[in-house]
Amino acid sequence: MVASTEIRARVDALRTELQRHDYAYYVLNDPAVPDAEYDRLFRELQALESAHPELICPDSPTQRVGGQPSPELAAVQHAVPMLSIRTETDTTDQGAVAFDARVRRALGLDDTAPPVVYAAELKFDGLAISLRYEQGVLVLAATRGDGSTGEDVTRNVRTLRQIPLRLHGAPPPVLEVRGEIFMRRDDFERLNVAQEAAGQKRFVNPRNAAAGSLRQLDPTITARRPLSFFAYGLGEVQGWAVPDTHSGVLDALAAFGLPVCEHRVRAAGPQELACFHADMAALRESLPFDIDGVVYKVDSIARQLELGFVSREPRWAVAHKYPAQEVATRLLGIDVQVGRTGAITPVARLEPVFVGGVTVTNATLHNQGEIDRKDVRIGDWVIVRRAGDVIPEVVGPIVERREGDPARFDLLAAIDHKCPECGSHVVRGEDEAVARCTGGLYCPAQCKQALLHFAGRRAVDIDGLGEQIVNQLVAAGIVKTPADLYDAARVNAETLAGLDRMGEKSAINLVRAIDRSRETTLARFIFALGIRNVGETTAKDLARHFGGLDALLAADEGALLQVPDVGPVVARCIVEFLAEDHNREVIASLKQVMRWPETEAAARPADGRLAGKTFVLTGTLPTLRRDEAAALIEAVGGKVAGSVSKKTDYVVAGADAGSKLDKAQQLGLVILGEEELLELLRQVDTAPLDSQDEFFEEKR
Ligand code: IVH
Repeated sequence: MVASTEIRARVDALRTELQRHDYAYYVLNDPAVPDAEYDRLFRELQALESAHPELICPDSPTQRVGGQPSPELAAVQHAVPMLSIRTETDTTDQGAVAFDARVRRALGLDDTAPPVVYAAELKFDGLAISLRYEQGVLVLAATRGDGSTGEDVTRNVRTLRQIPLRLHGAPPPVLEVRGEIFMRRDDFERLNVAQEAAGQKRFVNPRNAAAGSLRQLDPTITARRPLSFFAYGLGEVQGWAVPDTHSGVLDALAAFGLPVCEHRVRAAGPQELACFHADMAALRESLPFDIDGVVYKVDSIARQLELGFVSREPRWAVAHKYPAQEVATRLLGIDVQVGRTGAITPVARLEPVFVGGVTVTNATLHNQGEIDRKDVRIGDWVIVRRAGDVIPEVVGPIVERREGDPARFDLLAAIDHKCPECGSHVVRGEDEAVARCTGGLYCPAQCKQALLHFAGRRAVDIDGLGEQIVNQLVAAGIVKTPADLYDAARVNAETLAGLDRMGEKSAINLVRAIDRSRETTLARFIFALGIRNVGETTAKDLARHFGGLDALLAADEGALLQVPDVGPVVARCIVEFLAEDHNREVIASLKQVMRWPETEAAARPADGRLAGKTFVLTGTLPTLRRDEAAALIEAVGGKVAGSVSKKTDYVVAGADAGSKLDKAQQLGLVILGEEELLELLRQVDTAPLDSQDEFFEEKR
């Protein structure tokens, strides 16, 4: 059936609208319609095209994916060769100065001539592509190849929604756009996760992933790969009055609907180039994609023509590099480090290698999961990445260079499940990535951090006990645990005055501050212990719930779960912390020297309802042990008696409650289950334990 004029008009309208939405979504990053609306329009167009195949044209949005895999990528002769640019390896400002000097000399400019104006842009780390538009329609996409002959990747490039199949406005009869195809870092990470889930191999870096994705024989594979594109120049052009500056060319390309990176400036003279180099270096880490430098181009096209080329490199452009962020080296071994929170971190011992401007000998492997995921093995050649101030990391192995089949690394087995610093147990929760030392306060690796946390303003608040002092106290073996701070034989004005940067006066002040910190609150004390996942608020909840330290120390996971806002993760952290004898010992010593209002809650029940009330516990409660239930009752001012009488106010009965329950029923006493008991305790609105302002702040 031949399509009517209305159908043709509808098809045109749908194409224009879908094109507009693609542009808004993929180029401007500003979606114009919800996905569902887009899908509806797309399906309508597909239906019309399948009913009227004669209407299908190569720039229809439906034609981005389709067709059979090709046996090979056809060779393409470039009308204008795709050249490379000279690289300035001096990564200091001098790189810009040297380039400007060469340009000025070649142009015959003397010192009195005004600064040369440049276009400065990013050097994207992907692969070069040439896009040929004829009458505004994408007809050919080719890789660079050797510069003269590339590969036809048109069907693959069509799948990139960032690349318009038809240019906007009034494009010339022939326009070849040169630019870079790359993969964003977040897309790369996601792709690797998907690759792994599908049992496929991971890509080493975004550049390799982009190259591998583009050079597929089957375009449906490329279509599933998240590729991006930026235009940065021109190839063959016919019938167009090319703008007279490079900046003008990029503006025009953007107006044709092509993605052009926003990070570009016009810069006059070498100082402004160096500024751009520095500005982009500072931005490098936060960019969503990799760059390996910046590119300077003489802005005036007339001057570019004048400057011309030397040995296939334009004299008018230069790539001013940044220090390489990734290099290959040998993984000599895997060491184990204990982090500040007890996290056991595998650290790669590397053959020293220069990367990111420094020599790197160690790099983090994060945790066992990462080692497994990356499948790095001792002896492998690995890619090491160092970005900015970030700790160097092992990106992955170069599997092709692996010799034989070295054993996989098992972190816990390597340390025999014991902390290499203190010998405490190392545990790794089922759903946790990180293995941890349970040594807590006892582990010297965690000791410094623990002391600082303990002394913190929101903890027991020891004014003047900062990092400098703590480091010295620990290094000199004077202090190992927070309890040692209160041991006058260890910490006194004399020992303190002997430390660096400590006068007699500050030593005395610090001794006073330590002394003052003995008076605290239970909540602050609990927080100060530095139990993982027990922040200030949880510490307050715990203090309020248990009322005293002993009740907290007696609590098991079930009892902890009764505390409002305490979930299984927090409960487990507390149980693990308290299960370590070392921690118990430190707490016991601290208990000797510190003071806080004992059974704070019990001392001040708000409405006094439970003050003096007598409870009898009988049978087995579902979660609370009897001592825990008793502690809870006492914490709010109640008393726990052994036998039921007329004076008993409440009987708390669990499973297999015997004669006490019978008697309670005979006497007509109030009988509670565990749930009801806890509800009753919750209703007792205890006065705040902590009269600190911050407490009220938080609850407000
Ligand atoms: S201009 C004649 N501009 O770097 C000059 N190239 O050696 C043609 N590249 O593989 C290149 N970002 O793909 C130019 N902003 C940029 C670039 C850039 C990355 C790549 C290009 C080529 C290499 C040049």
